[in-house]
Amino acid sequence: MQIIIDEIASNMMQLQDKGNVASYIPELAKIDANQFAISVALPNGEIFNAGCFKTLFSIQSISKVFTLTLALDKLGETLWSRVGREPSGDPFNSIVQLEHEHGKPRNPFINAGAIAVADAIMQGHKSSKMLAEILHFVRFLADDQSIGIDENVARCEAHSGARNISLAYFMASFGQFENPVPDVLNTYFSHCSIAMNTEQLAKAGLFLANNGKNPNTGFPIVSSQRAKRINALMLTCGHYDGSGEFAFRVGLPGKSGVGGGILAIAPGKASIAVWSPGLDTIGNSKLGTYALELFAAETGWSVF
Ligand code: DON
Repeated sequence: MQIIIDEIASNMMQLQDKGNVASYIPELAKIDANQFAISVALPNGEIFNAGCFKTLFSIQSISKVFTLTLALDKLGETLWSRVGREPSGDPFNSIVQLEHEHGKPRNPFINAGAIAVADAIMQGHKSSKMLAEILHFVRFLADDQSIGIDENVARCEAHSGARNISLAYFMASFGQFENPVPDVLNTYFSHCSIAMNTEQLAKAGLFLANNGKNPNTGFPIVSSQRAKRINALMLTCGHYDGSGEFAFRVGLPGKSGVGGGILAIAPGKASIAVWSPGLDTIGNSKLGTYALELFAAETGWSVF
């Protein structure tokens, strides 16, 4: 395993076209695109790392996997009255479908869907309390109390968040929201601004590769059926309008973020986190996707 990922990391560093860092969140636009990391966590507790795997990055939309997991825990199947389970085929920040679909977003991973999930989990609590709960959960999953929020990114998202603010008020106009919109947005911007490295992220995703159980303690995080369903949503919706292409090239459930991270799950085998900040035109890590494509080919771990 170490040989495979060392080789992938060295291949990635030699590539010239690394994509472009996200520019619509100015804090992310400052990041050097010339970085790559990969971590592979196995259910037996082993972890393999290559590249700059200790460097923290903004997990952005990958946090939506953790808030979805929390939402299913709190609301069970009733969550699906707030958000759908279909790929949107539109960009991650699109508003178009909401008008015809009565303010119900297509899935929990597009921005509108994750904002609806943030509203659903708050249940009348303040965003500071909600955020503490989300952080507690992510720290527990990764078994690392040092994980926190990059406050600069969170502030910057709020200042440059006209689209997300629009999405939230548009959904609220259908009577869909239970909490004040500014509080919901605060929860959303903050959880997107959680900073992690690939080692922490691979560990945090391991329950999805291990039938819903924390492999270190055997403690169930979710049922095996729920783990399968979260993986199904990651496969069909985790890369937005690039989800089909990711399934075609990599063949693993995956969730991307505009910080350049991707969490990929090989069920029963491993949780894999990659990071490279340069994005493709859809907003998914360019080298991260390529690295996972090579990794899946080398290991034969495609789910297909
Ligand atoms: O709301 C946003 O636009 C960002 N906080 C998250 C978007 C994102 O990560 C999309 N990912 N590829």
